[in-house]
Amino acid sequence: MITKVIKVDPENIDYKVIDDAAHLLNKGQVVAFPTETVYGLGANALRKDAVDKIFKAKGRPSDNPLIVHIYDECQLDSLVSRLSEKVKKAMSLFWPGPLTVILDKKETVPEVVTAGLSTVAIRMPSHPVALALLKSCSVPIAAPSANRSGRPSPTKAEHVFEDMSERIPLIIDGGISQVGVESTVVDFTKDKPVILRPGGITKEMLSNSIGEVDIDSSILSPIRKDQKVLSPGMKYKHYAPSCQVVIIEGSQNAVAVKISQLKALKEENGFKVGVLVTNETFDILNDKSAYKLGSKNKPKEAAAILFESLRMFDKLGTDIVLIEAVNLKDEGLAVMNRMVRAAGFNIIKV
Ligand code: TXA
Ligand code: MG
Repeated sequence: MITKVIKVDPENIDYKVIDDAAHLLNKGQVVAFPTETVYGLGANALRKDAVDKIFKAKGRPSDNPLIVHIYDECQLDSLVSRLSEKVKKAMSLFWPGPLTVILDKKETVPEVVTAGLSTVAIRMPSHPVALALLKSCSVPIAAPSANRSGRPSPTKAEHVFEDMSERIPLIIDGGISQVGVESTVVDFTKDKPVILRPGGITKEMLSNSIGEVDIDSSILSPIRKDQKVLSPGMKYKHYAPSCQVVIIEGSQNAVAVKISQLKALKEENGFKVGVLVTNETFDILNDKSAYKLGSKNKPKEAAAILFESLRMFDKLGTDIVLIEAVNLKDEGLAVMNRMVRAAGFNIIKV
């Protein structure tokens, strides 16, 4: 299968391209499209044969459920049963945007989408190209991130092409995904909402608007064998480049010293070493081959470039990447959630 890549300017949308892509989706094909978080791999959420193609293209385990994307809240009626006041408030504040809500599903949602769960994940993306596409095909679209299973999520059309070339018919190139990490997944099926996956809508933003929210314990730690998994996606090795990732956590000076030592040691042993640190640590490290993760106090910057950086190190043929941990506040929680998984929980505290 030849994979076409077609550019669409989010500020001046070519609706002919959008309608053609919607036509493919309506025929049961899969199409990759940009969202503000990461690129998605979409298919008609109401057709099992279409959704099956997503799992095949990604090589995704069938017990990992998908997020259903909508462009208007009126589409919720056919997908979910009851909406609590809390979820209504969250949707009114953060949709369209990087928030996914877990709700009890209706029969119309095929089991293949929810991996047999009685709940369904729903999100309204804010990227203008995504919204235009969802509107044009008018059916809800199931879409995971458009990477091969286990690889870092794609934040550019070229990342999707790297992973999906010859596996899908079309990639819509709508530029860079600004947020850079996937949406915040929040379970609203109980009284107290629970964050299952942190993202661009932070815990702070949620608790300031809808009251107390819990955080699932697996967000920063490996899942124990006896533990019930609320978000099946969390149990897989994730976001991982081919190179080995090691996280270094501590004060800036200690991190800089440790990274210099480790880098020298590994290089002596013939490894190609990559370094990714906050701007502030970069300034004291004095290593021109290091890369910057953004400012220590602006985790949003790290979120925006983390996945792209991991893909870059792979392309450079790096064996080991040493990454500085970021602070857990705001978007930092989402960054660390992805980082610790990319590193297989290999963290050195200094
Ligand atoms: O930003 C995003 O959310 C992107 C873009 C494309 O919208 N999509 C995305 O999808 O990240 P995916 O499939 O890569 O991640 C979906 C996550 C997985 O961790 C999955 O286990 C969880 O959501 N999930 C889906 N349905 C669920 C459900 N019913 N209950 C609990 N977790 C669910
Ligand atoms: Mg994913």
